[in-house]
Amino acid sequence: ASTGFAGFDDHMSKEIAEQPEVAARTIDALAPGVGDGSLWHGLVLPRFERVAVIGCGTSLNAGRVIASAFERLGGVPSTSFIASEAAETVIEPGTLMIALSQSGETADVLRAVDELDLSRSSLVAITNNEHSTLARRADSVLTCQAGPEIGVAATKTFVAQVVTGVATALSALVATGRMTPGEAARQVDDLKRLPDLLAHAIAVSSEALPPVVDSVLDEPGFLFLGRGSGIVFAAEGALKLKELSYRWAEHYPAGELKHGPLALIQEGTPVVVIDSGERRLESNIAEVEARGGRVIRIGGPGSTVPALGQSLTAPFPGAMDRWGPLESVVPLQMLARELAKALGHDVDKPRNLAKSVTVE
Ligand code: G6P
Repeated sequence: ASTGFAGFDDHMSKEIAEQPEVAARTIDALAPGVGDGSLWHGLVLPRFERVAVIGCGTSLNAGRVIASAFERLGGVPSTSFIASEAAETVIEPGTLMIALSQSGETADVLRAVDELDLSRSSLVAITNNEHSTLARRADSVLTCQAGPEIGVAATKTFVAQVVTGVATALSALVATGRMTPGEAARQVDDLKRLPDLLAHAIAVSSEALPPVVDSVLDEPGFLFLGRGSGIVFAAEGALKLKELSYRWAEHYPAGELKHGPLALIQEGTPVVVIDSGERRLESNIAEVEARGGRVIRIGGPGSTVPALGQSLTAPFPGAMDRWGPLESVVPLQMLARELAKALGHDVDKPRNLAKSVTVE
């Protein structure tokens, strides 16, 4: 019998499954324009000294990954603004402002764009809707290749935004002489591994997650930890878990554990660690385990859910590790979804939330 979701249980599982294809499509569309700057559709890229990203929710997290790509790959100082708090912010001249919004209609983002003084900076929109209000207001628009997303909790649009933004970053770095075309081509080759990494993450997580979910069904709160480029993925994992399972979830840079959140750990407290192989994470994990916390490792040696590049049989120390283990978002999305399903929640329409929030 047809489920109405093309063989999937819900829109979210279909959208998670589409991620390798979305990444491949996005890379194919953008890769040719990285080396010669044509990604900018003929617009002259202004000189910029710094980058600022702005957005809400999952789009803000995607923006943070993109900001870190500018910083870690090109040495460009970057900041990120929560759209609803951005109005009072002073934007320095020479800022490349990148607004991210899946819908392009989020009121907080539109208001921020209206109220910020962008007269001496330039506004780029990354959106999944090229006809949106945000797209019309921006100086240049990069459209994501995600296709329509129905599930309220964003999944494939996050991947599309990150890939689009990283390609944008590479193009901008080449166009301003901060990166050689050769280096950019190497980075693009690295990006081309993503579809396989995402597919691997889906396959492995489907096998590995059910017992993990069973073991945390009754836990009221979750911590998500990461270091460096893994922190924003910890943030995205905690956001997905809150949205879908209605359990409390917080994210922290792992080094902050001992400055507060360690007090929350008791027997069985689930602590999801984005294990990008950072040596110091081991001592953070030991601190949690010594107090009876239940560590769920994403990636890394001894991983519960090995989805990061490092856990592949042939480790590939790619430059992608500098801006983020993007494939780690897959087990995080799937953990949140499986837990929510096990608790009997509607994963496509979480309570109290809307796909596009057009009120402030
Ligand atoms: C809502 C959605 C989130 C989304 C956020 C930003 O809160 O439920 O999934 O991340 O809005 O939406 P946008 O369309 O601006 O990306």
